[in-house]
Amino acid sequence: MSKDPGAKASANKMWGGRFSVSPAEIMEEINASIGFDKRLATQDIRGSKAHAQMLAAAGIITKEDAKRIIAGLEQILGEVDRGEMVWSRALEDVHMNVESRLKDAIGEPAGRLHTARSRNDQVATDFRLWVRDRIDDLDAALAELQLALARKADSHAATVMPGFTHLQPAQPVTFGHHLLAYVEMIGRDRGRLGDARARLNECPLGAAALAGTSFPIDRHATADALGFDRPTANSLDSVSDRDFALETLAAASICGMHLSRLAEEIVIWVTPQFGFIKLSDRFTTGSSIMPQKRNPDAAELSRAKVGRIAGGFQSLLMVMKGLPLAYSKDMQEDKEVTFDALDSLGLAVAAMAGMVEDMEPNADAMRGAAGRGYSTATDLADWLVRELKLPFRDAHHVTGRVVALAEGRGVELEALSLDDLKSIDPRFRRDALDVLSVDNSVKSRTSYGGTAPQNVRKMARGWLRKLEKAAAKA
Ligand code: ARG
Repeated sequence: MSKDPGAKASANKMWGGRFSVSPAEIMEEINASIGFDKRLATQDIRGSKAHAQMLAAAGIITKEDAKRIIAGLEQILGEVDRGEMVWSRALEDVHMNVESRLKDAIGEPAGRLHTARSRNDQVATDFRLWVRDRIDDLDAALAELQLALARKADSHAATVMPGFTHLQPAQPVTFGHHLLAYVEMIGRDRGRLGDARARLNECPLGAAALAGTSFPIDRHATADALGFDRPTANSLDSVSDRDFALETLAAASICGMHLSRLAEEIVIWVTPQFGFIKLSDRFTTGSSIMPQKRNPDAAELSRAKVGRIAGGFQSLLMVMKGLPLAYSKDMQEDKEVTFDALDSLGLAVAAMAGMVEDMEPNADAMRGAAGRGYSTATDLADWLVRELKLPFRDAHHVTGRVVALAEGRGVELEALSLDDLKSIDPRFRRDALDVLSVDNSVKSRTSYGGTAPQNVRKMARGWLRKLEKAAAKA
């Protein structure tokens, strides 16, 4: 077994100067974050390298020391990547584990790395970098999902299906149009994550414990080196807020909510009662007892993930509320929920993209359902307004009587004859029958943003151009 690098310390070897006995077992257990914050190792090392470089450039440590520190940090990064790093709970967190390992690797200069910084600005920096990395990953994954949706929408720009309100048949729409609704939602989700990223992108490093430092540091240099737009402007704020994580989790919650709606629709669409789509075997599971079953587990789990995501947002919001400035250890609780929430969203996005790519609509079932439930009644009312100049309210009333007639006979509107219509209102003409077909109904919806196949095709192609161009650039 590897030796615990923190085990020998009588008190914590990083801050044990004024302590004579080790922490109680339970103290160590509640205090340590290494079990989860080791995920920040890459970001921690990135931040430390930038800090060491800056310290040397500002003449606070020697160039020679900085070189050894940076070489040591790179060696540790390799160890972390290869899974060789031995993490110690006695060393509490990722920051002290890395520093302790650095001491073992390069000796005395390691102790100079922590000049003009504190774990408070260090963790704030690491965590921002981590959240920023995840936002970038999520943005790319969401673009993939949009691409899958837009491609499917382009192929099915003219595939009619029922449009619902109250989950009751309302008016016919096209499958492509329905899918493009999600492309729009996800576009806004990406916008929200992008907004969070823009506000997040200020560097807390150099705020030190809470008050700044007396060393002549160059915060602009470290901000620059880490890809931040600028340093944060107030040292107290720098170490004490986690609004960047909250904002990201809020945006993630909304995105998760959108995914859960699409997931729910998939669950409904694959039921034998609807039979609107078929999911591939890749995204379907069987039952251990019922041989006929094809269960949409990936959709169900994507639908469920929003629980963790919105739960993470709530959890961190409750941790942060009422905390006095500046840092409090409460804030260590920011990580697990954020990790879990953003991991969950990433998983759901990828699963949804796979399902959308693979799913195939059953056009006949969709068309059949699109014509049921008197879904073209509005088209008939519109005909009365357009052709006979009836006020819409009167047209609505006349059409209501036509629907009642069809209902009484147990037939759909398309089955009615001209004489049937005339029996309700003698002014009906033959061309009124044309508007009762679902194809003509969707074709007529040419208003901007409407479901007419020509609109849908144009919108889908517009999205595809934009998304493919962005993907080629990335
Ligand atoms: N592990 C700590 C956290 O995640 C690092 C900061 C500790 N700062 C302190 N003053 N004890 O919040």
